[in-house]
Amino acid sequence: MAENKKEIVLSGIRSTGNLHLGNYYGALSKFVRLQDDYDCNFFIADLHALTTNPDPAQLHANVKNILAEYLAAGIDPEKSTIFVQSDVPEISEMYLLLNMHVGIGELMRTTSFKDKARKALGIGAPEQGADDDEAFEKEIIGASTNKRVNAGLLTYPTLMAVDILIQKATKVPVGKDQEQHLELTRRFARRFNSFYGVDLFPEPYNFNFDGKPVKVPGLDGSGKMGKSEGNCLYLVDDPKVLRKKVMRATTDEGPKEPNSPMSEPVANLFTLLELTSTPDVVKHFRDAYADCSIRYGDLKKQLAEDILAVTTPIRERVNDILADEAYLRRVVAQGAERARERAAATLGEVRRIMGIRGF
Ligand code: TRP
Repeated sequence: MAENKKEIVLSGIRSTGNLHLGNYYGALSKFVRLQDDYDCNFFIADLHALTTNPDPAQLHANVKNILAEYLAAGIDPEKSTIFVQSDVPEISEMYLLLNMHVGIGELMRTTSFKDKARKALGIGAPEQGADDDEAFEKEIIGASTNKRVNAGLLTYPTLMAVDILIQKATKVPVGKDQEQHLELTRRFARRFNSFYGVDLFPEPYNFNFDGKPVKVPGLDGSGKMGKSEGNCLYLVDDPKVLRKKVMRATTDEGPKEPNSPMSEPVANLFTLLELTSTPDVVKHFRDAYADCSIRYGDLKKQLAEDILAVTTPIRERVNDILADEAYLRRVVAQGAERARERAAATLGEVRRIMGIRGF
């Protein structure tokens, strides 16, 4: 391959279910715009998905669906490297090696680990501001927890750091909830470099898109759209299903006085409308809200149709792509080949630096 001077962008998504509108506006649609200007690498983190012990048949189906959704949303395998994490065995080997420089204490204090472990154990969230590290660590070490909180969950940040460092990516577009993992990745990179007196790993940073980050709300009145919140509109939702979900979205009793402030559920519907509708439609409903003539049923009907205008072409492409097994196989094979090239080079350096050498 010719010398590549473009900055390396990398991002992954765990294969735990279909992609939703939040993934689309928060990630996919932005990835598509990066493809011409960066050396883009997008992958499906199936090894990370294993941390929650998915059903084996489901795991593969999810990988396939997400791959088709990536492609249908416009990620172009000729411009970007699209691969499946487990197709790059170098990642697994480097994960073992990097773990030798990662402390169990720092892993146990990672917010995502604590959240997931608490959920698995049925422990409630700590009180606001309480420093619960000590109590939490005691509970986690209790023997009865062994089966539910596995070591893969604990070492999730090591694996994610390896995903990034093995490709020497410097720009990693991720949501706010992944910032701590990126911070750890930088720390592991610095630690490795300084322990061995090398300059192997660059430090990766989140990608700052211009404009403010989009937060796509759910339909249940508060918070963002998320797989685990059960409030998602999926890109592949059937029109009937999607319309039903939108019509059922939480609202309020409606404005009683002109220019009332908006409740969160209603503001959320407007946020979705702003993402998917034209400015004049948004203005029409904003004016109707302001003068109290708004009917939420009309707003929802419009919103459902405008969302469908975005998702329908994607859904149709997903179905075409899923039907073309040969194409999918070609895409992953080509992606794996490209991803492995750089991964093998980095792993070779890591092995040599750590003292693993052939005879
Ligand atoms: N942890 C990320 C998430 O849950 C997914 C992920 C795994 C990832 N490895 C990565 C993201 C490397 C960016 C780079 O969203």
